[in-house]
This record gives sequence, C-alpha cells and structure tokens, in this order.
Amino acid sequence: MAPLHVVILAAGQGKRMKSRLPKVLHRLAGRTLLEHVAAAARRLDPARIHVVYGHGGARVRGAHPALEVSWVEQSEQRGTGHALEQAMPAIPDEATVLVLYGDVPLIDTATLQDTIAAGAGDAIALITAEVDDPSGYGRILRGDDGRVAGIVEEADASAADRAIREINTGILAASAHRLRGWLARLEENNVQGERYLTDVVAMAVGDGVPVSSVSPLAAEEVLGVNDRAQLAMLERRYQRRQAQRLMRAGVTVMDPARLDIRGEVEVGPDVVLDVNVILEGRVVIGEGASIGPNCVIRDTEIGPHTRIFANTVIEQAHIGSDCNIGPFARFRPGTSLADEVHIGNFVEVKNSRVGHGSKANHLTYLGDTEVGKHVNVGAGTITCNYDGAEKHRTVIEDDVFVGSGVELVAPITVHAGATIGAGATVTKDVPAGVLTVSRGRQTTIENWRRPRKKPKSSE
Ligand code: UD1
Ligand code: CA
Repeated sequence: MAPLHVVILAAGQGKRMKSRLPKVLHRLAGRTLLEHVAAAARRLDPARIHVVYGHGGARVRGAHPALEVSWVEQSEQRGTGHALEQAMPAIPDEATVLVLYGDVPLIDTATLQDTIAAGAGDAIALITAEVDDPSGYGRILRGDDGRVAGIVEEADASAADRAIREINTGILAASAHRLRGWLARLEENNVQGERYLTDVVAMAVGDGVPVSSVSPLAAEEVLGVNDRAQLAMLERRYQRRQAQRLMRAGVTVMDPARLDIRGEVEVGPDVVLDVNVILEGRVVIGEGASIGPNCVIRDTEIGPHTRIFANTVIEQAHIGSDCNIGPFARFRPGTSLADEVHIGNFVEVKNSRVGHGSKANHLTYLGDTEVGKHVNVGAGTITCNYDGAEKHRTVIEDDVFVGSGVELVAPITVHAGATIGAGATVTKDVPAGVLTVSRGRQTTIENWRRPRKKPKSSE
C-alpha cells in the first residue's frame, strides 16, 4: 500500500479571530486547534505528518514542542495551493497525500479513512457537505451527469454558483505524483490573486482522473473555526459529545450542557457528575463516586464511592475509595489520600499523604505532611511548613488526636497515640500516648473595667 503523508495547512493568520494569538493556537477543550488536528492525523498511522506554518511561526512551533511532525515554513501566505507546495518536496511520488486544515479540529477518523481509500491510487477524493448557509465556502460544481466538475471560490462565484449549497470542506486526498503535477500548473488569475488548491479538482477532471466526494458522518466534523463565535460553538458541540460518551458508559451527568472535559477522562459506572464540573488533563474516577457542583479536578485519580462535595478544587492528587471531600476543599499537587479519609470545608492539603480513616474536617492546612491512620486533626489546625527559606515536613503518626487551633511548627513528629490540647503551638516532637499542652495559663482580673467614652459636656 502507498505510504500516507498528511499535510496540515496552518499558516493562515485568522484575521477574524481579532487576536494576537495565531488562530491554530486557540484552544478547544483545553488543547490547541492544531493539537486536535494532529491527533486526528496520528490516528491514521501515517508515514509522516507535515505542518505548514507561517503566521506567528515561532509561537506555533514553540507551543507544540512535543508534537511529532515535520514543520514546513510558508513564509508568505499565497494561498492553500502554495501552502501545500511547500510540503511536497519531502513527500515521495508513490505516497497518498491527505490535506487537513489546522482550523477544522473535530474531523473524524472514519471519515478520513473513507477519504484516503477513495483518493488512493490514481484518484482524488474530497470531503464535501450540504449546508443551509454556504456563505464563505468554496462551492462544488457538478456536471449534468452529477459528477464533480470543479470548485469555485465564493469570491469568484457567479450569483448562480453562490446558490449551490454543497460546499468544499477543503479536506482532500490524492496521489502525490498527480498533486505535484497539478500544483505546478496553478495560476493566480482569481479575485484574491492566490494559488488555490481547489483548482486541482478541475485539472483532475481534465486529466480524466476519477474525482469522488465523501460526506462526513456528522456535520460538525468539517466545521472550521474562523471567529470566536464558531470556536465557542464547536466547543459546545465537542463537550456535548463527551457528555454523551460518558452517559453511554453508565455515568449520570446532571446536565450535559454544564460539564466540561478538557483532557482525557476515564469514569466508571454509576458515577454522578453534578453541574458545572470541569475535568482537566488526565482524570480517573472510580465506580459509584460522585462529584458535586462547581468542582474543578485536574490530573487526579479518585477511588470508587468517594464523594466530592460542592466547590472543591483538586490538582494532581490521588484519592482513595469511600472518602468524603469538601465542600470547599482544596488539594494541591502531591496529595495522596488512603481510603475512608474525610477532608472537610476550607481544608487545604499540599504534598501530603493521609492514612486510612483519618479526618481533617474544618479550616485546616496540611502541607508537606505525613498523616498516619485514624488521626483526627481538629478545626483550625495548621502545619507551619515554611520558615521563610525552606519547607519542612510534619509527621503525625497513627491514632493521634490533634485538638483545635494547633500550630505544628515543622520539622516535627507527633508520635503514635499522642493527644495535643487545643490551641497549642508545638515546636518540639510530641511523645506517644500522652497529652501535650502548650498554652498560656488562664487568669481572671476581678476589678477590671472596660474603658468608656467620657460623656460630652453640654455647655
Ligand atoms: C478554503 C477553500 C474553500 C473551502 C474552505 C473551507 C481554497 C482556495 N479555498 O477557503 O474552498 O470552502 O477553505 O474552510 O482552498 N492556509 C495556509 N497558507 C495560505 C492560505 C491558507 O496555510 O497561504 C491555511 C489556513 O491556515 C487554513 C487553511 O489553509 O488552515 C484554509 O485557509 P483559509 O484562508 O481559511 O481558506 P478559505 O478562504 O476559508
Ligand atoms: Ca477558512
């Protein structure tokens, strides 16, 4: 089989975005438009992916250091045909070339496979679509026999051509050998003075090369992003698809229109996602877990049957099963909770491990801390992990009871079974099994009077 070379055209500026950012760097579901298109290309397992970049070149490349593609610069944007020509020297004659657009992010793998199959060998295939409003797109011209005869750009179209509702999506596949020949014959005798890739279709017809058209499975696959309204619309469509996928897998989504997935999520059956949940990066949620409203969860694993209550923010954490978290809890990177842990409201945990069955239910900060099993951390307790220069660790061993309002000045170890009385500021290691208190002695001053304002003299 002929090797497949994918060329992604991404050199345009995207004027209608009204942005300093090159268009393909705008994000959809947390990833750049170009990353979406490159991911679609990658799923086809091609010999090579070429990205034609130009406008904002350094930024486009710089934003994608890990993208495994060949970067091809188009220093002047002289049209889609000219853009493809820049990539052709690196593509062998026997290859099949698939052209994708950097601003058409939702294209589906199955549609592309159909296109490649139809464009392989001595043929050309393009994806076309019937739309209600064809304005802005190139129109597909068909002969009396119904076969594709060519493409006319809107700027060059007659009134009759403009009434055609079958549009060119821009995506096409053809043999490299043929494309090379046609591209060499492109002219700039059109209204925009550009080298139009679309002109190769009429050339193919003239050369007797079979032209076929492929329809996308879903209309949104071929929608392009030209302005911010279209970007927002594609974002919503993409999110709706994500929600549907989860619901089919047995997840309860309280409102599919109020869930945002910006990454890769793996969610077990009978998970409940309440409204306004945002899942970012790689998130795994175990069977029967529930996520309350307004939670933001990033790069985190959550065990089965754990309940995350409203307004909790979690980043780079590992949470066991049957835990109760929040409302209003915050986990920063490096948090790891065993099973049946309770972390309540206004509790912040960072770079800490919390053992089985331990609790910190109110107003607490645990930073750089190791908490053992069955520990109770009282309300308002904080680990003083930072001395202004270095971070230090706190170790709280199994079965410790820390009273309310305690300051644990790290580095410090509270040994197993210890009890610390409320209000203590603890600076030295705490012995196992006994009560430690550290507070000023309470005294009462009997004849003390509150100061009062002098009454104003009235003349
Ligand atoms: C193009 C098609 C049109 C089709 C439409 C679909 C041509 C001549 N027209 O029009 O038939 O209906 O797409 O969206 O092909 N690009 C470059 N270098 C350039 C010019 C463009 O890399 O010099 C890239 C752009 O970044 C973009 C893509 O090619 O990703 C399409 O360019 P754009 O200017 O948006 O083409 P349209 O005028 O929309
Ligand atoms: Ca366009």
